[in-house]
Amino acid sequence: MATDIDQYAVIGNPIAHSKSPLIHHAFAEQTGEQLEYSRLLGEPKRFAKNVADFLAAGGRGLNVTVPFKEDAWQLVDELSVRAESARAVNTIIQLDDGRLRGDNTDGMGLVRDLQENQHLKLADSRILLLGAGGASRGVLRPLLEANPKQIVIANRTASKAIALASDLTTLEVVAGCGLNDLAGKRFDLIINATAAGLTDQVPDIPNGLLEKGGSCYDMMYGDKPTAFMRWGLGQGAAKVIDGLGMLVEQAAESFYLWRGIRPETATVMKMMRG
Ligand code: ATR
Repeated sequence: MATDIDQYAVIGNPIAHSKSPLIHHAFAEQTGEQLEYSRLLGEPKRFAKNVADFLAAGGRGLNVTVPFKEDAWQLVDELSVRAESARAVNTIIQLDDGRLRGDNTDGMGLVRDLQENQHLKLADSRILLLGAGGASRGVLRPLLEANPKQIVIANRTASKAIALASDLTTLEVVAGCGLNDLAGKRFDLIINATAAGLTDQVPDIPNGLLEKGGSCYDMMYGDKPTAFMRWGLGQGAAKVIDGLGMLVEQAAESFYLWRGIRPETATVMKMMRG
């Protein structure tokens, strides 16, 4: 009976576009795990009720996406260290005693994609992180753990970047500034964590920021290269990368948290690109 199969879902609003069911069903097939994974349209201000209803109907765990990651952070009974510092939860795990644990696999997904799939060396590198919203906050600590020489967070609203840099760490490795303050600086990797791509825009940053051989990473993805990827190519980037790998890697880590098995990601990535 279908109801005997463990149920998972991704909750967000909008949600119809989500590729997570495709990815998790591919993981399930690959690992032989029996599970169903669906899309759940969350309702503004009713997130807690939506989650409770899903779990009452037999749900075992949830992925959480825009705009509910902070609601999830507030809802759960306990948090992993990385979710705590991200102030956002993208994975809810129902513990055996019924309590809810919140984790955040976004940052790990990004770092794995950069290091293992793209073979970029983060240790001792200079990283520019564009944006100071939830997407940046979510990846900052895992990026720091990869031991870069420097992370500069730059944001259209400079004060938010400065606040994020000082809020999350006292390390001198991290600094915050406005987009205008970047002129003359050089980076090995520029990561776009802004929402500018939603309107096919690129943050207004100076030319010449990218070191020779440097790369550009857009946390967004689409069927075609994003505006930021096109910008990177124009700046002579050695590699321009979209966020599909991050999506698959964060999903793999969520799958591992729920099922105790880490799926292989390369073939799933290939399928998604196909
Ligand atoms: P998310 O949770 O996805 O990070 P958010 O908290 O709304 O979403 O943050 C969006 C980020 O994209 C912010 O850093 C925002 O800059 P501001 O803080 O100055 O608003 C940034 N952003 C959005 N549109 C942008 C644009 N056209 N150019 C540059 N930055 C942009």
